[in-house]
Amino acid sequence: MTQTASSLTTDAKTAIADALNQCVAETVVTTMMAQNFHWNVEGMGFGPLHALFQEIYEDHFTGQDDLAERIRAIDMYAEGQLAGMLSRSKVTESEGRKSAKEMIGLLAEAEETLGSTLAGAGQLAAEHGDVLTEDLAIERGRIHEKFAWMLRAHLRG
Ligand SMILES: [Fe+2]
Repeated sequence: MTQTASSLTTDAKTAIADALNQCVAETVVTTMMAQNFHWNVEGMGFGPLHALFQEIYEDHFTGQDDLAERIRAIDMYAEGQLAGMLSRSKVTESEGRKSAKEMIGLLAEAEETLGSTLAGAGQLAAEHGDVLTEDLAIERGRIHEKFAWMLRAHLRG
């Protein structure tokens, strides 16, 4: 049965908020990764990569806000501390200097992880009848898979 914020049980809200906090954490870590690469990329592909990495971190900054605000809309709390996000995120920070090709590979991997995490959160929301969270998770998941494709395309051919 379809549920909305006011009709979800406490158990359902807890499970959905946990899944969404996972999505927020991984989106935040990936946002920083894209901005780090936007700043530090070098080589002949600098122009388009600098721009693509910016497009990614700007999208993800909006995405993390939408996800966190959905948590608040179901009357739960968004984790707002970086340390907590880093410890739960399956996307890990990139350390040290990377070539442009390594940056593209790492970011593509992060986008794929996010696509999977968002798809899982959407499925969990669906199991609880929370179609509005499901819709947001599906939308965000699809965006991450689009960026994964755009990044991977650089490594082919
Ligand atoms: Fe910039």
